[in-house]
Amino acid sequence: METWDAIRSRRNVRSFDGKPIPAHDLDQVLEAGRRAPSSQNWQPWDFIVITKRSELRELATVWQGAGHVAEAAAAVALIAPVTSDERRAAACQYDLGQATVSMMIAAADLGIGSCHAGVGDQEHARRLLRFPEDRHCAYLISFGYPLARPLSPVAKPDRRPFDQIVHREHW
Ligand SMILES: Cc1cc2nc3c(=O)[nH]c(=O)nc-3n(C[C@H](O)[C@H](O)[C@H](O)COP(=O)(O)O)c2cc1C
Repeated sequence: METWDAIRSRRNVRSFDGKPIPAHDLDQVLEAGRRAPSSQNWQPWDFIVITKRSELRELATVWQGAGHVAEAAAAVALIAPVTSDERRAAACQYDLGQATVSMMIAAADLGIGSCHAGVGDQEHARRLLRFPEDRHCAYLISFGYPLARPLSPVAKPDRRPFDQIVHREHW
């Protein structure tokens, strides 16, 4: 897929067809995350990849909006440092967002759908994923092939109008 098509095709996919993602493709998605830019090249992230169905089903219970993780082919848990420094916390969130969208677009390029999920129950996530005490699980990302319609450029995305968002030279 062309980059522009991948950008336009990415949408949150919450139903997957059950087909596994080839290891090489999953690694390519993770590599896209590893290459993402970050504040002062901090790279605050660690990625835990989960592909076992029983684990995915358990992970899906860490947040009310994480149900899609249960039937995904894989999930990536974004693990980040715990910090009380507000500036670092904000930078970390920005960095995680960049890694997320890089992975999602790399996935779309391969025809793989993706979806974000927040994490509510940190202790349950920690028991399942065994990340250390000084880290938290910031988000989960589901990956898999869309059940219903394959990815293709979304003609009319549910977004605010271009001219309302884009300000030229000044507000
Ligand atoms: C920070 C963040 C958290 C999100 N958390 C969830 C979530 O917990 N569960 C979910 O199904 N979608 C989640 N989403 C997906 C958004 O609902 C989605 O991006 C938005 O509705 C636009 O959908 P689209 O990208 O398919 O157009 C999250 C997105 C972001 C950026």
